[in-house]
Amino acid sequence: HPPETAALPSTRRPVAPLLERAPAKVNLGLRVLGRRADGYHELWSLVAFAGAGDRLTYDPAGAPGLGLAGPGAATLAVEPDNLVLKAARELAGRVSGLEVGRFTLDKRLPVSSGIGGGSADAAAVLRLLARANGLAQDDARLFEAALATGSDVPACLHGRSCLMAGRGESLTPLRLPRFGALLVNPRIPVATGAVFRALGLAAGETRAPPPAMPDGFATRAEVLAFLADLPNDLEPPARRLEPSLQEVAERLAGTPAVRLVRMSGSGATFFGLYDDCRAAARAAKQIAAARPDWWVKPTVLG
Ligand code: C5P
Repeated sequence: HPPETAALPSTRRPVAPLLERAPAKVNLGLRVLGRRADGYHELWSLVAFAGAGDRLTYDPAGAPGLGLAGPGAATLAVEPDNLVLKAARELAGRVSGLEVGRFTLDKRLPVSSGIGGGSADAAAVLRLLARANGLAQDDARLFEAALATGSDVPACLHGRSCLMAGRGESLTPLRLPRFGALLVNPRIPVATGAVFRALGLAAGETRAPPPAMPDGFATRAEVLAFLADLPNDLEPPARRLEPSLQEVAERLAGTPAVRLVRMSGSGATFFGLYDDCRAAARAAKQIAAARPDWWVKPTVLG
């Protein structure tokens, strides 16, 4: 028998890169119910996902690490605290023998903007690593790694509309009718921690009881009626920190047929809801013409 040597032709076929979408998360409403003893805030939020998002590709055979591409690549640095790398580390710490290759992030969403770009990227990393390593997508270690990476990552891992409670660990799926939506960001990054701190709640302080759980939504009108009583409690402190957000809200409110204007997460992205994508596209043209320096993205939600 000839000895088996490295010079023999490899029978390993090249592995095709894997692709995962990382959709933007939108908090349609977000109550801050209080502040927990551990310092995190107790939340209650109706979360939806947009058609718009980042994209991640994964080469299992590539050198471990992260490469950046896309229109937002220059707005991001590959630091160890990057949520993509953090998510991979958190999963590797929970799954022995996890193989980690090379990620390429096609960055399209604005950073630190309240629509969970980094969290969506982290969740996509967990899905990619699960696929490449043969883990089930409902493996509890994915969820644990998600929560350890950031409060919004479990919801992004779920990836479909839901009610989010606790600091982000309690998720109840809830189907939503589709809306046309317009996401508008003035390219002002807002630090999530600063907005929460500006609420001024002491550890252990309670502010409001949890709202009643909705049964589900059959129509857009039902969602809008529900949202009338479910504001974003982070919007007033974010506006105090960044008074220029007023213009974003006003420009959205000035678009035809807009049903709701509100900030998502800790900001600074605002969204407008419309009955269909055509109305959202019309609104996008109007705002982009007035403020070509802003990030303006028509999309679908729900
Ligand atoms: O969990 P994550 O690292 O994404 O949170 C960023 C910051 O936002 C936290 O350090 C905390 O200041 C604040 N936060 C909070 N309560 C939450 C989520 C985030 O106070 N439920």
